[in-house]
Amino acid sequence: MNKIGILCSGGDSPGMNAAIRAGVRQALSLGMEVYGINRGYEGLLDGDIRKMEWRNVGDIIQRGGTILRSARSERFKTEEGQKHAKQMMDTFGMEGLIVIGGDGSLHGGLELSKLGVTVMGVPGTIDNDLKYTDYTIGFDTAVNTILDMISRLRDTSSAHDRTTIMDIMGRRCGDLALHAGLAGGADSILIPEIEPDINAVCRKVLEGQQAGKLHSIILKAEGVKIPSEELAERIQSVTGREVRVVVPGHIQRGGTPSCSDRILASRTASKAVQLLYDDEPSKAIGICRNEIIAVDLAEALEMEREVEYDLYELANTLS
Ligand code: ADP
Ligand code: F6P
Repeated sequence: MNKIGILCSGGDSPGMNAAIRAGVRQALSLGMEVYGINRGYEGLLDGDIRKMEWRNVGDIIQRGGTILRSARSERFKTEEGQKHAKQMMDTFGMEGLIVIGGDGSLHGGLELSKLGVTVMGVPGTIDNDLKYTDYTIGFDTAVNTILDMISRLRDTSSAHDRTTIMDIMGRRCGDLALHAGLAGGADSILIPEIEPDINAVCRKVLEGQQAGKLHSIILKAEGVKIPSEELAERIQSVTGREVRVVVPGHIQRGGTPSCSDRILASRTASKAVQLLYDDEPSKAIGICRNEIIAVDLAEALEMEREVEYDLYELANTLS
């Protein structure tokens, strides 16, 4: 394979730029031509495509966001849209495509692969919701960003004897809340994979109070059904403590990528190029026990991963 494309799709994540850099430079090193596609599948449909050279990806390894920009595309979800995307691939002579994105983006890639495009999925999302890989690019940075916010909230919560509920991103996946909660010493962690026990949350607050701890931090993942304001009212009425809700929102998605995200991005995107160069069929690239893995794209998207109950239990025990 000689000509390939690269795009970012779905929610951006820190490390996407490091992946673009690795993809472009690995391809150029192998003598391939590589095209950058702006705004994900939306840009592919519009033909918003440019040839990438070595210097186009200089000075980006440390930057969050994505120089190719990202988008969600309703048009691409239709059969007609996907056929048009395939036509665009043909028009530019691109035989293979690297898709840097999350679960939805890789599902999009799978649809395109059914039309004859070889697609390599590189896991780029803060959510860590791709089950075939231990980690996704951006997750580590986002966890560290949340940790920083927990420290700041701890200062002000303890100064005012408050209980603070922090809304954590992650769509249907609780990994961000779980990892940040354990590492940040949260008093309670609510994630969608485990039925929330509001009484247990209230007991934790009251037990802390009896032990002289007058502030608490509760992390609630986005996928948990109960609204934070309702949760706050419930805790306040049961415990009598002042409760505040903090929604950090997209701050969790920005910022300079961590070392581990830059390395994961560099390794997975380089692997994706190598597989295209070797004319391998469509795959999802990931990491398992620090080894880079490449799994059949369709199989990767069907995989399941158990929630890390041990981390959840540990966080409960230690808080
Ligand atoms: P993420 O990749 O972060 O999970 P989304 O779920 O928003 O983000 O998906 C990004 C884009 O991927 C969508 O806007 C759409 O264009 C495409 N996509 C998502 N799911 C599918 C699907 N089942 N079939 C085709 N395209 C899809
Ligand atoms: O997939 C990344 C993510 O930040 C999710 O955690 C969140 O549910 C979603 O994207 C938010 O999307 P938007 O940027 O469109 O608000």
